[in-house]
Amino acid sequence: MDKLDLEQILPLKPSEFFWENIINYPIDLIALSKEERDNCILKIIKTLEDKSLIQAGRKRQNDWLKGWEENLINFAISNDIKDLIPKYYNKFPYIRYKSDLYRVNNVNAELNSVRILINYIADIYLRNFEEIVEIGAGTCHHILELSKNLKRDTTFYALDWSESTTLIAEKLKEKNHIKSIHSFKFDFFNPLWHKEIKLPKENKFAIYSFAALEQIGQEFHNLFNFINNTIKPKIVIHLEPIAELLPQDQLLSYLSTKYFYKRNYLNGYYTFLKQKEKEGEIVIHESSRMPFGSLFIEGYSLIVWSPL
Ligand SMILES: C[S@@+](CC[C@H](N)C(=O)[O-])C[C@H]1O[C@@H](n2cnc3c(N)ncnc32)[C@H](O)[C@@H]1O
Repeated sequence: MDKLDLEQILPLKPSEFFWENIINYPIDLIALSKEERDNCILKIIKTLEDKSLIQAGRKRQNDWLKGWEENLINFAISNDIKDLIPKYYNKFPYIRYKSDLYRVNNVNAELNSVRILINYIADIYLRNFEEIVEIGAGTCHHILELSKNLKRDTTFYALDWSESTTLIAEKLKEKNHIKSIHSFKFDFFNPLWHKEIKLPKENKFAIYSFAALEQIGQEFHNLFNFINNTIKPKIVIHLEPIAELLPQDQLLSYLSTKYFYKRNYLNGYYTFLKQKEKEGEIVIHESSRMPFGSLFIEGYSLIVWSPL
């Protein structure tokens, strides 16, 4: 993957700091033979036919609690932030780049693609904010990455319905990995700000989500109302699966969309936001496919909007 190639497909031009920083996140892309590509596609189709594939939704809360608890336990013992990397990265030796599949030899290639994306939104959108909220923060590994690369002192808010997130955030603060972080249990289906934690200043902070709204299917209305009418950030940034942006006449993006539906991933959110824009409630600044994805999906499209 080279700079010129990547630059062409990023929706806005990042700074030199971004390019210097992502040298730390190499991705080796190896073109697939016809047979290897066919095998990948066969695996995707068989997975789509698998009746036991777990669906996202309300029933999964305990799974997230347990999953992140494993990271928490390991991190509490080691104090090594590598233990906060979710275990679902780097499972397969393939990633998507520019809508096609590639083999990768570097065991961290998938994680590195995610690091590039978070640094991209940091560079373009987040760097001037003193307060940044992540909804669906998981193990807080994106927040850690931001705290390393944003120059100013930033206060972070790590929100998630898994209590393990809050325990991880507390540990990160206690062990001086992050200076200023607040965290509390937060449910997208019934969003409420914690009574004892001061709200960030209206119209002065940023919210982002990274592969988190993906988990709520079509039930995004309460969360939208909460963001737009209650807490009112300056800007909202999503890196999420957005079927509306994927062309249905291309095999891999078609299969990706099928996978979204099969797993009950975010569905209809972008169409809903466009309607809200038409009604004068919000403005959408950006909606774009992004360069990376996993074997099964192109799941990190960029949507950026603001309340009006
Ligand atoms: C795929 S993980 C992504 C975590 C993190 N953003 C990352 O990229 O590493 C999805 C996250 O969304 C959270 N989540 C799922 N449904 C949620 C809900 N209804 N309310 C709050 N968080 C939820 C999960 O607990 C999990 O942390």
